[in-house]
Amino acid sequence: MFYVKGFHYKESDLLGSGTFGKVYKAFNPDTKQSSAIKKIEHGQRGSKQELEIFQKLQSIENENLIKLIDFDIHGDSMFLILELGDLTLKEYLIEHDHLKEHVVHQFFRDIANGLRALKNANIIHRDIKPENILLCNKKSLPTPAPKDYVVKLADFGTSRFLQLGELAQTFCGTITYMAPEIQLRKRYNNSADLWSTGLLLLRCIAGADCFLHTISVMEDDLATFFLEYENSAKSLPLHFNSDCEISNGLKKIIEGLLI
Ligand SMILES: Nc1ncnc2c1ncn2[C@@H]1O[C@H](COP(=O)(O)OP(=O)(O)OP(=O)(O)O)[C@@H](O)[C@H]1O
Ligand SMILES: [Mg+2]
Repeated sequence: MFYVKGFHYKESDLLGSGTFGKVYKAFNPDTKQSSAIKKIEHGQRGSKQELEIFQKLQSIENENLIKLIDFDIHGDSMFLILELGDLTLKEYLIEHDHLKEHVVHQFFRDIANGLRALKNANIIHRDIKPENILLCNKKSLPTPAPKDYVVKLADFGTSRFLQLGELAQTFCGTITYMAPEIQLRKRYNNSADLWSTGLLLLRCIAGADCFLHTISVMEDDLATFFLEYENSAKSLPLHFNSDCEISNGLKKIIEGLLI
């Protein structure tokens, strides 16, 4: 058993692991509070930045961003004690494949609200993807309906502060959801998050197969695709399952994000 600021966890309580750290489910027996503890090698690229971003977010009242409860540093490790999510959007999509439009509407209202708060705080997320979106079962219902979830943005491991008018240049994020300007090694701003959000929206409404089909068109020849795309000679072809019901309004929103 490991103890961090009153919370305890075991190696077997692993919730997930990523490029930068391992995340465990933890519990504080005194306060009866559950949390997620993200253990990162202290000094690893971005660890200080992730802490600074969480600290900045502590001052923002927004229920669509995962909150930092506390943190600790022991030797080589940094421990971020985080608000606990019940499952990732990736796990939810494995179970449901594609979502009904009213569910997409509800989930993305939360995601948009989180993104707006980040933008207002001059933060660019840079890794919007299903694994980094958490669903929280508000009332701990045994069989929650979509409306019982609050959707929250997580994983600020690749986020950074970006002042209005400033442009970033670092190549980072996850290729599948990465904006063309980042893939083309150009300078970029918050709108890179909007591209990723557009693809995420497409993934949620279209289902895995159709999404992968769209992505494979790009991935076959990424450089050519994005160059043609930049010159407006090409737009992203959107594919949908035959049983996918999508309104023209939502199609327009996706197209508007993928420009
Ligand atoms: N607050 C949380 N509540 C529940 N599960 C979480 C929480 N934070 C992270 N996780 C789980 O741990 C995984 C890895 O966490 P996170 O994305 O923060 O780490 P990472 O190493 O930066 O990942 P990446 O591979 O995206 O860079 C998540 O995909 C999720 O499954
Ligand atoms: Mg992650």
